[in-house]
Amino acid sequence: MDKTVKIHPDGVAWGNMYPRLFKSENRPSNVFFYKGRILVNKDYIELKNLIPETDIFFKFQPKTRDIIDCINANEPVLLTGEGGSGKTTTIEQLASKIGQPVMRINFSIETRISDLLGKVHVKSGKTYWTDGVLPYCMKNNIWLILDEIDAADPSVLMLLHPVLEDGGKLILKENEGECVNKSPMFRIFGTANTIGAMKDQSNSYNGTNDMNGAFIDRWTVIKWPNLTFKDELKVLKTKVGGLKHRTAVNICKFAQDVREKNTKNDFPLEVFSTRLVLKWGKKTALLKSPIEGAKIAWMDKIAESEHAGLIKIFELYFGKAVKKKKI
Ligand SMILES: Nc1ncnc2c1ncn2[C@@H]1O[C@H](COP(=O)(O)OP(=O)(O)O)[C@@H](O)[C@H]1O
Ligand SMILES: [Mg+2]
Repeated sequence: MDKTVKIHPDGVAWGNMYPRLFKSENRPSNVFFYKGRILVNKDYIELKNLIPETDIFFKFQPKTRDIIDCINANEPVLLTGEGGSGKTTTIEQLASKIGQPVMRINFSIETRISDLLGKVHVKSGKTYWTDGVLPYCMKNNIWLILDEIDAADPSVLMLLHPVLEDGGKLILKENEGECVNKSPMFRIFGTANTIGAMKDQSNSYNGTNDMNGAFIDRWTVIKWPNLTFKDELKVLKTKVGGLKHRTAVNICKFAQDVREKNTKNDFPLEVFSTRLVLKWGKKTALLKSPIEGAKIAWMDKIAESEHAGLIKIFELYFGKAVKKKKI
């Protein structure tokens, strides 16, 4: 294998394997410049293991500017958009650029208040308090990502209200009323697939709950777009080795058309994310066939009775490749 070392524009050496991540210790700086915006990590040094590793092929979208503005203004940011469109990763990659530690909690209806706040333990007749993820991040300059927040029980979300306010504090009643302040680099982010105007799509996201207006009001909401065709193609080609250019183009075109409902026939999947595009690309490269790749990457998400109808759609994009392989 070619072991040539290339030099990253940030001055960091990396090999030619992908996806290739470099260790946090090698991160170039604590300052990130993006389209006229500056993000600076002023004083972080500890908790290195919580800094996300850099994905050198990650493509920031122009809306990242709005996230940086919110971080600099100390506003909580709620990213809404289709699953797999890069909401969580964008925040993690921003953190990685400046050496910022991050913790993440994935919400489900099972998430309890004690997961967020902490709980009392009893040991040898004595009681001890352990902080949950929320006070821990607040105290230690850690960014907190509340992932899939629309899957949470609304009563759990209520306890976040004071934390989302300017200068808001958290009172831990169960820990003798401890008052937790926000440390300077603490920031809070949320991600959700559905919200307000997106509710019309909510049948694609079973298990999500309506978030109440008072809760949503406290966030700066940024609607997160899918990547453009050009950017998604770039990401696919850099992250997945061994894909023919034409195949990569067709995969991305297929995904864009499904999203924009441009497919000639009604397509039975409503969400076709970048996550799915990457998975399809990887399986296609491995199996040397877009159809075989699709079978593993996403066709089982669709009822078997619909598979036959897909042949026609595939033919439009992959022509001969479809005819060679049975679907
Ligand atoms: N802009 C992008 N550049 C590179 N990879 C991306 C980009 N957006 C999404 N991805 C990839 O797609 C996958 C899903 O992203 P994720 O952040 O988990 O989506 P979401 O949080 O919106 O559900 C990840 O593997 C991520 O690396
Ligand atoms: Mg996510």
